[in-house]
Amino acid sequence: MARLLVTGGAGFIGSNFVHHVVSQTDHTVTVLDKLTYAGNRDSLAGLPEDRVRLVVGSIADADLVDALFAETDAVVHYAAESHNDNSLNDPRPFLDTNIIGTYTLLEAARRHGTRFHHISTDEVYGDLDLDDPARFTESTPYNPSSPYSSTKAGSDLLVRAWVRSFGVRATISNCSNNYGPYQHVEKFIPRQITNVLRGVRPKVYGTGENVRDWIHADDHSSAVLTILERGEIGQTYLIGADGEESNRRVVETILELMGEPPDAYDLVADRAGHDLRYAIDATRLRRELGWRPRFQDFRAGLADTIAWYRDNEAWWAHAKDGVEAFYASKGQ
Ligand code: NAD
Ligand code: TYD
Repeated sequence: MARLLVTGGAGFIGSNFVHHVVSQTDHTVTVLDKLTYAGNRDSLAGLPEDRVRLVVGSIADADLVDALFAETDAVVHYAAESHNDNSLNDPRPFLDTNIIGTYTLLEAARRHGTRFHHISTDEVYGDLDLDDPARFTESTPYNPSSPYSSTKAGSDLLVRAWVRSFGVRATISNCSNNYGPYQHVEKFIPRQITNVLRGVRPKVYGTGENVRDWIHADDHSSAVLTILERGEIGQTYLIGADGEESNRRVVETILELMGEPPDAYDLVADRAGHDLRYAIDATRLRRELGWRPRFQDFRAGLADTIAWYRDNEAWWAHAKDGVEAFYASKGQ
């Protein structure tokens, strides 16, 4: 049994990880989360109080972080400003949390000698052409496009430097696009599902030919737990489940699963600097650590996700109008 500190554990992927840890291990979890617009304590509802505790605060608060590291065996660091469109609107919080926040945690890991796992994204690698046979690997050069992905790239480089210069016992994972329950309605898949539930047509940026490589959040969680338990210190692991789909295709599938005509969506203004395609080669994780995804059928995973949003309107309804007003102001 270990005492885990999970930063950003009230967000989308962090809360999925906490649920996964509670069901698959006997670890206890302290969540450190600032509860920004993206954090939601209801995402942790129903978890056993003797195993999961929520501390509301910032990863950039050095005193708080230090006190929590003193009572922690291992840290899994999810907390971030995570949405590309917000980063184009106002980059500053991305620097404060993704860069300064990660730096604050690394300094505490260095002082306390704490095992540290850093969660990152495949977006640090930039994008690929649609017909490029290559996929991202651990040795692909960093080439981020947006304020979001550049601050994530910066945070990854800080982790590497703290491993090499100070001997911090850290690993890094860069994962592809996640879907599943508890994802904020600002993101692509929940936005479209909740639009359809509200009788509004889905909104697809640009031509909709952009490709994302989808993985269920629970598979991301099992991969992170595997790396935490068996990963090599100092190593980077790419996480992906061979789930490439164009945005058009994703929306068509959502519409079809929800009983609507598959062409009942609008093409809207494109995102500035919009990455064309992401694709992950997760060979290292599969070969060296023996990890396998559980959700192999994207259509079935999407159907489960649609059912979750249909059944949990109270979880997302309060955020929907504000998100749509933001997008409407940008013609999206
Ligand atoms: P999210 O926006 O849903 O959650 C982020 C959480 O961090 C929220 O609960 C928020 O309150 C919290 N937070 C923000 N600033 C904080 C601060 N200063 N101190 C403490 N808590 C703070 O994001 P997500 O989609 O769950 O992403 C989690 C992590 O996974 C991020 O590091 C992201 O870069 C990475 N990632 C996301 C995806 C994806 O598809 N969403 C894919 C790969 C990697
Ligand atoms: P998003 O969920 O924001 O994730 P990311 O930018 O990290 O890939 O967007 C996924 C894809 O969907 C991306 O190509 C942008 C596109 N998109 C739309 O077409 N319409 C939308 O309403 C949103 C939010 C995203």
